[in-house]
Amino acid sequence: MKTKSYKALLEKVYDNLAPSFAEDWPKLAATRAEGVYLYTQDGREYLDFTSGIGVTNLGHNHPHVLNAAIEQMKKFSHSAVGITLHEPLLQLTEVLPSVMPEGMNMFFFGNSGSEAVEGALKLARYVSGRPGFIAFRGGFHGRTYAAISVTSVKSKYRLHYEPFVPGIYFAEFANPYRCPLGDTAADAVEWSQRSLANVFDHMIPPSEVAAILVEPVQGEGGYIVPPAEFLENLRATCDAHGILLIFDEVQSGFGRTGQMFAAQTLGVRPDIMAVAKGIANGFPLGATVASRELMSAWKAGSHGTTFGGNPVACAAALAVQEVFRDENVLENCRKMGKRLISGLRALQQKHDFIGEVRGLGLMLALEIIKPDGKKTPDGQKAFKILNAMLDNGLVGYMAGPMGNVVRLIPPLTVSEQQIDKALEILEVSMGKL
Ligand SMILES: Cc1ncc(COP(=O)(O)O)c(C=O)c1O
Repeated sequence: MKTKSYKALLEKVYDNLAPSFAEDWPKLAATRAEGVYLYTQDGREYLDFTSGIGVTNLGHNHPHVLNAAIEQMKKFSHSAVGITLHEPLLQLTEVLPSVMPEGMNMFFFGNSGSEAVEGALKLARYVSGRPGFIAFRGGFHGRTYAAISVTSVKSKYRLHYEPFVPGIYFAEFANPYRCPLGDTAADAVEWSQRSLANVFDHMIPPSEVAAILVEPVQGEGGYIVPPAEFLENLRATCDAHGILLIFDEVQSGFGRTGQMFAAQTLGVRPDIMAVAKGIANGFPLGATVASRELMSAWKAGSHGTTFGGNPVACAAALAVQEVFRDENVLENCRKMGKRLISGLRALQQKHDFIGEVRGLGLMLALEIIKPDGKKTPDGQKAFKILNAMLDNGLVGYMAGPMGNVVRLIPPLTVSEQQIDKALEILEVSMGKL
């Protein structure tokens, strides 16, 4: 059933869609997408270096994933897991443990990243019997109530939603680029340790804390890679006080950082994980994951969902794992990540507004600053860069609490030529500013 032409509908998009989304950028009117390319209603072709915010990690419409989804759709496309079990779901529970961080072998499947985070927080309170959570400044965990309650990247995400879920305290993330103590990794680790000690001394004793929730690499916060010691300290603190360590790998997961998960790239083991986005390359699926020992204590009826573990999404997720296995995706990610980051570093030599180039694998970003010697964030310049890139056919995305970070999230299957083309566009776009 069609009502009006696509063009006519685009003209009234703000009449029909909730404006809460309106600031999202750039709202390209897509007609088709394949691999790294997006095609729009006005006949343009773009290099998509967003992957739909870290979702289509194997490129748009990967044929193997598409085919698996179509084959499942021909059989059936919905099952409420309490009523109808299905093979893709059960196969997925067999396949995923071999690629997850050690011991992550039991799954609750939901639909989104926020739902995976909700599940992780509920599980932690349920099994620990403790009320408190510690999250980190600059973190982003989603838009549902518990998820927004542990989010602190931007106050506008929280405005008018109080009161939040109680029992949540914030500590400092280790960010060597913006640390009041100094700019070494050791300074950043020390700063975060002090702030965690402060929370324990003055706000909530460790014995009342159910879990510490952290993105091993902050996503919306600006692709901040902490020193591995930051995560090692969290692990040690959790072990010392019987606190559960939750990794939100919704954005960093499924190959983004060069290993399947950032937990593996940075060498620290969580107790609970929230994963989503890249899990099914575009089909809505997320999971709360823990060890069998821990998750078995979550008694029947204490958590559930209607759409979670959808058969089509699970079939796609299985196919995603086959592609990772058969197409050297992680190796390509590491190789192309090196190529892209060295090109970005070369650009940094030419432009004093690029304060830092950072990231892991193909989770890369440029922090844009005013060249005033004070690292003053320059969100306006970042926006101009993104717009210039767009004019030249390259889609990137913004990040950071001050909107001054340009993130580049190409598919992990991106080719050398496509990386070089993107670097060429970045060079031209920045040259014009
Ligand atoms: C780290 C992290 N956690 C949770 C979420 C929320 O995921 P969703 O938008 O699928 O609910 C996001 C989304 O960007 C994210 O980056």
